[in-house]
Amino acid sequence: MVRCYNSRVIGGLPKLSLNRNGLQKSAEAQGFSYIDGDTNPSISSSLERGGRELKRRTNRTAGEQVRLISSIFEVRSKSSNSDEAIARSYDQEYGGEKPKYGYVSALLSPEGFDLITGIPKDKINQLRVLDVGAGSNEFLRFCRDELAIPANQLSGSDVSGESTKIIENDGFSAHQGRIETLDLPERSFDLVYLSYFIDYDTDQAATFGAAIDRVPSGGKIVLEGWFPVRPFGLLEKDRRDYSFITKGKTAEEDIQLVRDAFQNIGKEKGRTVSLEKVVKTHRFVHSQYGFCKLDSYFLTFSVND
Ligand SMILES: C[S@@+](CC[C@H](N)C(=O)[O-])C[C@H]1O[C@@H](n2cnc3c(N)ncnc32)[C@H](O)[C@@H]1O
Repeated sequence: MVRCYNSRVIGGLPKLSLNRNGLQKSAEAQGFSYIDGDTNPSISSSLERGGRELKRRTNRTAGEQVRLISSIFEVRSKSSNSDEAIARSYDQEYGGEKPKYGYVSALLSPEGFDLITGIPKDKINQLRVLDVGAGSNEFLRFCRDELAIPANQLSGSDVSGESTKIIENDGFSAHQGRIETLDLPERSFDLVYLSYFIDYDTDQAATFGAAIDRVPSGGKIVLEGWFPVRPFGLLEKDRRDYSFITKGKTAEEDIQLVRDAFQNIGKEKGRTVSLEKVVKTHRFVHSQYGFCKLDSYFLTFSVND
């Protein structure tokens, strides 16, 4: 089994992990709530159960894992820029007969969805949802199968062509490309989920702005990620060329930088974007790095005129 992420694997960018007290203090000072989702027994048990199912579903041999890593290494070495490398690497994970990528996170349970989004139960089946960076598409299937949101209200996008094939084959509206390049009408999604790709995003400001544009007044944006953020999807030669919002050294600093960016970009558009809450939990992922338990932070923003 391949080792999980660590600071060496992810490009030698050591960042400190969370000082929970620090985040609790920022939450109090800045007026958002901070919730440790791992203390919620129902969410934790559903994550553990989901993790075991994921492991069974995506089980693979050491040989299959090595072949996956080699194919990713090969496409990265042939890519001319980081955007191409990211899309083509993920094509290797999502393509083929057997799924090679899968995840389970706190958002994929009704209790977690309620805790993270705060959307009233009687409004859920009217939601129009966009999952950006949908990957293996677990979230939209959960919205349809467990939250009973009609499939025609569910859309997904990803820079990977193989991911968009999965979204389409699952029966949802599928879009390939970065969100700011897609022809999606403004204010047409009540919930935009930016799902665990902030570390791969070569233009975080463009993503945040386009997400704000897609949400009507009263809508929500949920950003899930691993904090502090590390730009580990980039090719070595591109590392100096991209400017990341998330330049912080700790989870707390990066969360504040993301919050400030959403607020400022919203303000330029005449909108009020507020960070309502941060929920810290964990997630299970089976990917090129093997089967891993990772930190997971959900930042829930509300957008208003
Ligand atoms: C770590 S995977 C996350 C997949 C899934 N959403 C999850 O939560 O596990 C990152 C995904 O984001 C996609 N991605 C990376 N940068 C993107 C961008 N700027 N816009 C849309 N998708 C992007 C990748 O192709 C990949 O499918």
